[in-house]
Amino acid sequence: MNKKWWQNEVVYQIYPKSFFDSNNDGIGDIYGITQKLDYLKELGITMIWICPIYQSPMDDNGYDISDYENIHPDFGTKEDLEQLILEAKKRNIKLIMDLVINHTSDEHFWFQQALKDSKSPYRNYYIFKEGKDGHPPTNWRSVFGGSTWEKVPHEDNLYYFHSFSKKQPDLNWENPQMRQELYAMINRWLEKGIAGFRVDAINFIKKDQRFLDGDIDGSDQLSSCFDYCRNIPGLEVFFDEMRKETFDKYDCMTVSEAVGVDYPNVHSFIGEHGCFSMMFDFNYTNIDVENEDVFKPLNWSVKEYKELLFKSQTEIQKLGWSAPFLENHDQPRCVNKLIKDKKYHDYYGPTMLATMYFYLRGTPFIYQGQELGMLNFKRTSIEEFDDINAHAQYQRALEEGFRKEEAIEFLNNRSRDNSRTPFPWKDDLYGGFSKHQPWILMNENYHKINAMAQVQNPKSVYAYYQKMITIRQQSEYHDTLVYGTFEPLESDDEIICYKRCYAKQTVVVICNFSSQKKSIKMRSSIKKIILNNYRDIWFKECHLILNPYQSLVIEL
Ligand code: NOJ
Repeated sequence: MNKKWWQNEVVYQIYPKSFFDSNNDGIGDIYGITQKLDYLKELGITMIWICPIYQSPMDDNGYDISDYENIHPDFGTKEDLEQLILEAKKRNIKLIMDLVINHTSDEHFWFQQALKDSKSPYRNYYIFKEGKDGHPPTNWRSVFGGSTWEKVPHEDNLYYFHSFSKKQPDLNWENPQMRQELYAMINRWLEKGIAGFRVDAINFIKKDQRFLDGDIDGSDQLSSCFDYCRNIPGLEVFFDEMRKETFDKYDCMTVSEAVGVDYPNVHSFIGEHGCFSMMFDFNYTNIDVENEDVFKPLNWSVKEYKELLFKSQTEIQKLGWSAPFLENHDQPRCVNKLIKDKKYHDYYGPTMLATMYFYLRGTPFIYQGQELGMLNFKRTSIEEFDDINAHAQYQRALEEGFRKEEAIEFLNNRSRDNSRTPFPWKDDLYGGFSKHQPWILMNENYHKINAMAQVQNPKSVYAYYQKMITIRQQSEYHDTLVYGTFEPLESDDEIICYKRCYAKQTVVVICNFSSQKKSIKMRSSIKKIILNNYRDIWFKECHLILNPYQSLVIEL
């Protein structure tokens, strides 16, 4: 694979509503991000991905866009965004935006026109269908619960389709005119000097045109829509056209959200003929729940996780580039998800996880607060949750027969709100995020876990991330850690061990994923210890003894 500039980036994901509130209205904003650029520069990242900041009624916190060309006033103005791009550039930080083109808001002009007038060309921008015998056209369940079909007001038997909430009608990608409108919009944004896009739910754009009922798989008598509107053959035709009409014309970086993609289909997403620069592979991300339902927890093992992780790396390496991540705004905090022994949640757990994913082959993404080792919260009632999906999953859990307390426990472990709590800048009122009551409750532990405490402490999770980034970006190991091949190494079931090789250099990453001491036989001698999350390293004969959740990066 030819070297590309975007392979060198380290991306930091910002959830703008919760990053920093510069005007003290309780909601984070664009100028707040600008004010914190020096913090990000110090950390060492080179690119920011901002979740949607466009005009939106905020049914799904901005993933329901009512105007692609304008900024939501809660976040600021177009001028604020221009200033952010400029100030970031001064610090050599690039910016990518979120591109949400599977659906719009129902308050988008196109949809409003489509509802108003059956003769309007905008009708065909969305998916409208007649119901069957007094029922919706199919029995599909939307991602946020309930039918994927919503009845059109004042029409006898007409429904529109939505994969997510009913306020997020899906666009009809079968319509070439609609596609051209989207491409023009994408190009307008690229002209403004952004470095590219994170592309939302893009594997939903093709629907199974037969519109058949699926097998019922829940007490709601519905069938998950995934088999009918996600990763459907024909997707690659849209991808091809979009790439040629937009991304190919710019030297931009694109990263696709790609949940549930099988490896034989990865070539449409990445590599020489793929649509995007890189992809988020979720095949090992949702290991702890079945079918992304929070009330269906799975008892996973490190061995399974390792197998999935290695498969992802080796399959993607065959043709393209990946985007390793541990967290995002849809995931709970990784320490709670992946470190089973709470005793290690403070330092060794988060730093071991960081080492494990950060040196995988790909462009690493860090989600805000991950660099502080932020943890999940504890809520006691459903009213304390904001997320539309948390409410939907709560309802479904009750329908499936769980008690309220059990449903809340599922949400405490897995709700998307866990990663959306305001960023804890310091141990002050509202964590220094705002002087106003934030839009969503803080995570109470901000007194202990906050940026100010960690930036000043050389033994903090933050300091570890800083060091880890410097090693990837600026050390003599740069080429190996960025361009090197990935090779899995055999080890104990609870140790994740792999190597990266480039030219004559070999770097090995060893992570003890358990609260037990483990030993590992060394077949070659260690030339240098590049990174260690413990102070020391222990040997016994030719065995390396690993402490609980110890991680090492060594040169052989
Ligand atoms: C994926 C986004 O990451 C998520 O937050 C959103 O709810 C859905 N796509 C719908 O846009």
